Amino acid sequence: MSNATKPATLLVDDKSFELPTRDGSTGPSVIDIRKLYAETGMFTYDPGFTSTAACSSSITYIDGDIGKLLYRGYPIDQLAEQSNFLEVCYLLMYGELPTQGQYNDFVTRVTRHTMMHEQMTNFYRGFRRDAHPMAIMVGVVGALSAFYHDSTDITDPVQREIASIRLVAKMPTIAAWAYKYSTGQPFIYPLNSLSYSANFLRMCFAVPAEEYVVDPILEQAMDVIFTLHADHEQNASTSTVRLAGSSGANPFACIASGVACLWGPAHGGANEACLNMLREIGSVDRIPEFIARAKDKDDPFRLMGFGHRVYKNYDPRAKVMQKVAHQVLDRLGVENNPTLQVAQALEKIALEDPYFVDKKLYPNVDFYSGIILDAMGFPTSMFTAIFALARTVGWISQWKEMIEDPEQKIGRPRQLYVGAPERDYQSMAQRG
Ligand code: CMC
Repeated sequence: MSNATKPATLLVDDKSFELPTRDGSTGPSVIDIRKLYAETGMFTYDPGFTSTAACSSSITYIDGDIGKLLYRGYPIDQLAEQSNFLEVCYLLMYGELPTQGQYNDFVTRVTRHTMMHEQMTNFYRGFRRDAHPMAIMVGVVGALSAFYHDSTDITDPVQREIASIRLVAKMPTIAAWAYKYSTGQPFIYPLNSLSYSANFLRMCFAVPAEEYVVDPILEQAMDVIFTLHADHEQNASTSTVRLAGSSGANPFACIASGVACLWGPAHGGANEACLNMLREIGSVDRIPEFIARAKDKDDPFRLMGFGHRVYKNYDPRAKVMQKVAHQVLDRLGVENNPTLQVAQALEKIALEDPYFVDKKLYPNVDFYSGIILDAMGFPTSMFTAIFALARTVGWISQWKEMIEDPEQKIGRPRQLYVGAPERDYQSMAQRG
């Protein structure tokens, strides 16, 4: 990061302070306020971090105004169409696209770590069968630190590397087993001759009694879904992972905290909420009723799958997802799926409605992903679990970057205190 030429000037009580500015390689520059409190005695106030850069990063870049998303400089649509998920994992983790040799080696290392400690099956059995897969994932991912003690020393780069590979490799098994457990079917063990995506589909949908052949179109669609969700710079769950990691917590615990944060309906839970909403709308003629509700200030209802903190244009992932939705539904012979029809009509109406146009509310990645996953046979409760699986590589890359950043400190936001000033304790008899 280079130094910007001009510092910013801040005037507080007629006293002026010079604050250094810093330029990134692209995108907005920042005002470096690290010395602000020491020099002015004041904090900045920014709930939701709408104008605050909490770190510097060279992994992912988003230009929300024009709807651009780059992983290590490469546009997301090129990666979704020309690369594959494991190559993208390598890119995110190590910064460059791999050579053939590096790729083969990486795939072998990930593939060799797909199994879980056998005792972890007992862990699953402790959950209720109707537990939400994300509840199971928070528990099981956190529990990895109880099984893999040889990769929890964050000061050792070799252990950090093994933990990262283990997490990327085991997430499909963890997520698929959460699903299998809910159905009462036996766990299906990974089959290392298959691709990452095909393996996941097989672990979800195969049963020991029958041969299971993975459909290449669904395998490809799964791979693209993973790629589109792999990273998204400093979103809520990634920031949670960084904050947890800033205290020196082990990587399994950090990723479990990311899974927990992702679960919320304003974040990763939106794909589940979106499909439920499309089903609730049910038919095209009911769309105006739901649009009116979304616009009503007194109604907490929001159009799920619309709007984004960063994108004030079409989410570039949504464009790819729309294409994949058509391919998958076509392949499965459900192009006339009523949910897809509602989605298409809703998208068209919302994109022309002044409320959505003025507020720059465009479809986001979750708008179409639920339709695809539903057509593939996943229950809605699995949608966010699949998002968590795919985002693990982003979380772990960001966690590694933070650990290796010499400017990194324990995350410790400040506050504007608005509670009672100091007062003396009163006994119960004095309280009246
Ligand atoms: N439907 C109706 N109105 C909306 C919506 C929506 N989906 N999203 C935002 N608005 C309105 C909001 O009421 C506010 O209006 P006003 O200025 O009059 O108060 C304005 O647009 C700005 O919204 P905001 O809540 O201040 O924006 P935010 O950046 O804090 O929230 C968001 C972003 C994604 C939480 C929000 O757009 C939302 O709740 N969307 C629905 C949930 C969703 O699809 N989430 C998935 C995000 S993409 C996947 C991911 O990255 O996790």
